[in-house]
Amino acid sequence: MTVKKLWDISPTVTPDAPIFPGDEPFALRWTATLTPDCPVNLSAITMSPHVGAHADAPLHYANGAAAIADVALDAYLGRCRVIHAIACGPLIRIEHLQHAEAALPPRVLVRCCQHADTQWNPEFSAFAPETVDWLAARGVRLIGLDTPSVDPASSKSLDSHQRLLRLDLRVLENLVLDEVPRRLRIDCAATEAGRRLCIPPFAQSCANFDGSAQCCANADGVERQMNAITRQDCVARDQADPLRALKDQFALPPGVIYLDGNSLGVLPKATAARVQAVITQEWGTDLIKSWNTAHWMELPARVGDKIARLVGAAPGEVIAADSTSLNLYKVLSAAIRIAQADAPGRKTLVSERSNFPTDLYIAESLCQQHGLTLKLVDSVDELPAALDADLAVLMLTQVNYRTGYQHDMAAVTAAAQAAGALVIWDLAHSAGAVPVNLSGANADFAIGCGYKYLNGGPARRPSCGRIHAM
Ligand SMILES: Cc1ncc(COP(=O)(O)O)c(C=O)c1O
Repeated sequence: MTVKKLWDISPTVTPDAPIFPGDEPFALRWTATLTPDCPVNLSAITMSPHVGAHADAPLHYANGAAAIADVALDAYLGRCRVIHAIACGPLIRIEHLQHAEAALPPRVLVRCCQHADTQWNPEFSAFAPETVDWLAARGVRLIGLDTPSVDPASSKSLDSHQRLLRLDLRVLENLVLDEVPRRLRIDCAATEAGRRLCIPPFAQSCANFDGSAQCCANADGVERQMNAITRQDCVARDQADPLRALKDQFALPPGVIYLDGNSLGVLPKATAARVQAVITQEWGTDLIKSWNTAHWMELPARVGDKIARLVGAAPGEVIAADSTSLNLYKVLSAAIRIAQADAPGRKTLVSERSNFPTDLYIAESLCQQHGLTLKLVDSVDELPAALDADLAVLMLTQVNYRTGYQHDMAAVTAAAQAAGALVIWDLAHSAGAVPVNLSGANADFAIGCGYKYLNGGPARRPSCGRIHAM
């Protein structure tokens, strides 16, 4: 069974809470108490916004920069990785985080302490500025840590804060990461007064409050506790799986649990005999006649029609030919030419920095050929802003091969088309794995591959290209 658990990653804010020298400590005074004439207890508090867990506003380290009320909340909310760099010394260096480099989400919190300090201690770990650059280059938009600051206590130049400003990164400081799991979602609520981050189990964090949560900074996460699933649960799910019988159609070596179908699908049992017949009979014996007698000629369209059923396309819309990259080159060239004929002023091709590298190489070289600019967004949150009047073509992989993130194909296509652009979808990690509905999404072009979830085998690597009726 999957359960959600809430984690409060903020320290308790009390008058004794450790503060940075110069900060105003927390203090609470009661302005009204329950009496026969007064139906409520009311309190007033004073403290610097930097007491306890907090998000620095850019205004904190640059005059004229955004105050916290002007900072968009998106960067703070969503999937997050907690990377352990416990006892890393005065600076969190790139080598302390490299072990977790694969598939970083847009939010990274670094746990430097076995137990977060409850007393002021100037010897805390801070970020080396180059580590901030390194994280930003990997698409990270929010960083955080369980010490008072991303810069050392003695720093006067605040180099890491200045990096945050230059790279437009957000930051959470003074967190408590003592017990949280490494994969979290950060779910916060904004407040009216100053847009501090404010989280539900607030009462646990601010002793003696009367419940006015508006002014305290907290952050928490929701974990999907995978360890709550027992082997018995898995066996029961297997038995209830309607696709269970299909496993017998595949030739898995005994004892192998194969989790690499995202790269190369398992051999179907029928394939060996079919390939043998093609070689000995169709090619070996019938030779050139097989173009007609074995219907080789129609094969790309016949296989395409079968794939069409899996990706929500109509008969005749999908063709099986060439490799994924070649097909991407073809449809992207076509899309760029159409866009340039229809709207020559549009000059950008947008994709994700985390898209499959060969897709990006192809996009890069076609952009050079056609005088377009390739714009890569670092997170899905940045996509809406990239769908502007300059956009010629949007090229995305529906399911991200690193993170597993699945785009809402219909919504993204509609938004890009409303902005006047054409959309190309790479289905390499979705066709055959999850429901895909190209027609429903009104997709302009799509390509994919046959050797992953379509189990087409490594040799022929069939791919599909689709042009939606236009
Ligand atoms: C998302 C995605 N796009 C493109 C490709 C490139 O495919 P090919 O090497 O078959 O051209 C792959 C290969 O794994 C992929 O996963």
